[in-house]
Amino acid sequence: MAEILEKVKDYTTSATFKRVQLMEKLSEFLAVEKGGVKLYEAAIQVVRNPDVLNRFHVFYQQTRKHVEILTRVISALGGDPMHMSPGARIADEKAQALLKTMTLSDGIRPDEAELNAIENIVIAETKDHADWQLLSHIAQRSSDAMLRDILKPAVAEVEPEEDDHLSWTKEQMAQLSLTSLMEQ
Ligand SMILES: [Fe+2]
Ligand SMILES: [Fe+2]
Repeated sequence: MAEILEKVKDYTTSATFKRVQLMEKLSEFLAVEKGGVKLYEAAIQVVRNPDVLNRFHVFYQQTRKHVEILTRVISALGGDPMHMSPGARIADEKAQALLKTMTLSDGIRPDEAELNAIENIVIAETKDHADWQLLSHIAQRSSDAMLRDILKPAVAEVEPEEDDHLSWTKEQMAQLSLTSLMEQ
């Protein structure tokens, strides 16, 4: 109980956040979204399941919108969206590494390539989801009214979509993995 109360307090008491580090994080989060756009583009080429394909088209468009939203947030906070923080460069490297696995065709069956593409989306969306969860906490707790005003509408629009991206894709991965191992 004490632990739960502590958490509630954590999510409601106002706090001051380090501006320079926050801007570096936003640069990283933007790189994650940009990586997501490339990953969906690659996944759409590999996925054959019509339900997954339909959803990935929707998630792809939403991810492109998230790039625009984060770009606007960074500009509104006085940052340069073109600047890449060290964390952004690492995020970009990770996306490139995942992308590379989607173009390897050696000895991989189409159903394995499809599952690998879906798994890559789950990996990328896990990070994307965590990023927006963090921004949501900052939007709620920041003592800086301007920061709250900029973050809140962005979080309100994006966070429910991130919930969807992660939970839906994870569920599909579980189902398709199971089906792929079943005897026909
Ligand atoms: Fe996103
Ligand atoms: Fe996402």
